[in-house]
This record gives sequence, structure tokens and C-alpha cells, in this order.
Amino acid sequence: MVSTLDRASKESVLTSASTLPFGQSLSSWFIEPQLNPASCVPEETVGAYPTLTKYGAHPLRQSKIDRAYFKMDAEERINRIWELRRALDDRLVILGHHYQRDEVIQFADFRGDSYKLSQQAATRRDAEMILFCGVHFMAETADILSGAEQKVILPNLEAGCSMADMANIRDVELCWSTLGSLGISRVIPVTYMNSAASLKAFCGRHDGIVCTSSNAPRVFDWSFARGERILFFPDEHLGRNTGNLKGIPSDQMVVWDPFQPMGGITEDALRNARVILWKGYCSVHARFSVEQIEQARAAFPDVQVIVHPECREEVVNASDAFGSTEHIIDVVSSAPAGSTWAIGTEINLVNRLQKEMPEKTIFCLDPVICPCSTMYRIHPAYLLWTMERLVEGDMVNQIMVDGDTRREALIALDRMLAVP
Ligand code: 13P
Ligand code: SF4
Repeated sequence: MVSTLDRASKESVLTSASTLPFGQSLSSWFIEPQLNPASCVPEETVGAYPTLTKYGAHPLRQSKIDRAYFKMDAEERINRIWELRRALDDRLVILGHHYQRDEVIQFADFRGDSYKLSQQAATRRDAEMILFCGVHFMAETADILSGAEQKVILPNLEAGCSMADMANIRDVELCWSTLGSLGISRVIPVTYMNSAASLKAFCGRHDGIVCTSSNAPRVFDWSFARGERILFFPDEHLGRNTGNLKGIPSDQMVVWDPFQPMGGITEDALRNARVILWKGYCSVHARFSVEQIEQARAAFPDVQVIVHPECREEVVNASDAFGSTEHIIDVVSSAPAGSTWAIGTEINLVNRLQKEMPEKTIFCLDPVICPCSTMYRIHPAYLLWTMERLVEGDMVNQIMVDGDTRREALIALDRMLAVP
């Protein structure tokens, strides 16, 4: 991953002001990272398992693949994947999320944010198999939305989402029954796409709905047309930022902490609430800070800051714009040449935009590399391993949602897809 400002503009940026008021070097935004992403071994994780265990999550484990897949020459690996891709032809469609590394996203027949990818999964009925280069909840959603005969495959079963794992069905049921026992009614459950299928099913059977970061405001409108309150999980920040956009006063948004009795909320506050937010967050987007925005503005007076709505409220408020990955791409792509953008989202997407638009100055708001460690687990080695097996008719790593969950989750997903 190399900063792709051309050398002349990079040098001019670095010499115009070498030190920021905060004592940080300006060059740190354009540091060329030490890691070559394709040689980074993804299953050697960053200590996520203890945290997930605390939340009661039991993420899937990927069976070990031969080290030779990692050790082989990167170019040879890519060539072999292309050969297999051609052999599988239109039996296979490959979907890729924008956060996937370049070595993987190049194979995607379609790339998108989680909303667009779910639309693709619902409409690509011609392919026998859908290979999902993204994370587990996306593959589950693709399985629910695709045809009964279609098979959805996730190249590495350990590509989960730590935020999705922060809400489990048992804790959400407990919260729901607590609200019921207090006589708090007309609550619409809304789950963010980044959640397990069981939570989507919960929303399906309780007159609720799914949202993504691109349609959350419209889903809030849909929900308030049908109820008085929203129970929103698992991302506290997307929920609060959307509530703010809809003009919900902050004292009418409370945070349910699944580790506290009664969610750590008083009965009065719960009765007064219009939005009950789940205490969950994205470890990538929670890193962005107002201080980083101030530093970017000090270094580049004409900078525009755009962030993902999974960022904390104060970060979203200090930015010039916010929106889903697709929205970020649209805004930055349509900006004039010469404009400067600090982007608060995952590094693979930011680096790609930087490469694709050398006529603009584009950098990640977090000067320290900011990857999604679970998206990163879709390493080309796993792609090769998976596709070799698919060619042989061995359906490895198939993601299958059970019948009842699928039926109820589909109700909530169909509602989302029908929201205008
Ligand atoms: P998008 O829906 O914007 O693609 O976001 C998905 C995601 O996981 C962001 O962290
Ligand atoms: Fe989950 Fe955050 Fe990664 Fe998105 S960026 S998949 S929310 S951990």
C-alpha cells in the first residue's frame, strides 16, 4: 500500500509545513506503510478473541490451510486465481466489499457497500455460487437473499466483524423482555446490517427492519411511522448519528449496556427514550478523533473531512460530510481536481481512492494505519485455496443460514430493500 500522491506534489506538501502545532510530523499522513499487505498473515490476529469471548461471541474458526499458499510467489498466486476464475466462468459470481485489499478486489465482478452488495446477492440468480469477499454477516445476508439453490462461500471463515459480535440474540431478547415487562410498547427493533442473521430474524418477527449506513435515515422514518421508539443494535454510533440527523434530542437517546442490569438505564430514562442504542462499536471507526480533524485542518486549510457514520458523534459533527462507503466514494470522486480530502474510514478504501485520483490530495484521517483486521483475513491465499476446491466440486466454507432464521430474517431484509 503506497501513498500515490505523485512525487512532486508529495514533496511540496512535505516541505510546505513539516511540523504541526501538535508536534506531529505532517509527513506521517503520507508514510508508506511497512507491511506489504499480501504477505501479512491474517490469522495471526490482534487479540480480538478475548474481547469477543467477553461479549459471548463464538466466532467461526477457519481450518488451517497449507503454508505453501502463503509462501508462494505473489504473482504466481494471482495468476493461478485468474486461471481458476476463468475455469469457473459464469457458474461463479464474486462480490467484493470496498474494504477488501487490492489483491482481492481485482477479482470482484461487482464491488459495493453492504447495501449494494445485498442488492446484488438478491438479483444475481444466474450464478450457481457466490464467492463473498467481505465479512461473515455479509455472506449470511447473501445466503438469505439469494436463491435456495445458490451457494454462498466465504473464503476465510474467520472474516467476522467484531461489532456484529457485540450484540447476541440472548442479550437482545433480554433487553426486549425488560422493555415489555415495563410496559414500554410501540418499540421498533432496527438492526444494522452488521449483525448476525439471528438478530435480523428477531427484527423480522417483531415488526422490525434492517438498515445499512446508506439508508439508516430512511429506515428511521419508516420505523417512526410505525412506532414511537426504536431499539437500535449493535452500533451505538450509527444509531446516535442518525438520531441526530432526525432531530431526536440527546436526552431522548439512551445507551443499553448488555453488561449492566436494566442496561444501566433508569426506568424513567427508558420511558422517556425515543431511541435505545446498543453499546457496540466498530474498532476501526472508533479510532478517529476530533484531534485528528484539527490536525488535518491545521496542516491543510482547504481540507474537507468526510467520515463514515460509525465514527463517534463528535467526529461526525466536526467533519464536513459523512456517509456510507459508497457515499464517500461518490463525494470524493465528483470533487474537483486539486481538492484535498481527509477520509475517516478503512485504509484499503482510502488508499485505493488515493491511487485512482492522483490529481487530488487524499489521505486517511488516522495517520497510523487503520485496517479492518477481519476484512483483511480474506487473503489471496484463501481465495486460491477456496477456488481450487470449488473447481473440484468440493463446496468448502459454505455459509448456510438455517430455514427458520432465513425466513424471518428475509422479512426484515425485504422491508429494508423496499424502503424508498
Ligand atoms: P458500508 O455499508 O458503508 O459498506 O459499511 C460496512 C461496514 O462494515 C463499515 O464498517
Ligand atoms: Fe465490522 Fe468495523 Fe470491520 Fe466494518 S470496519 S466490518 S464494522 S469491524
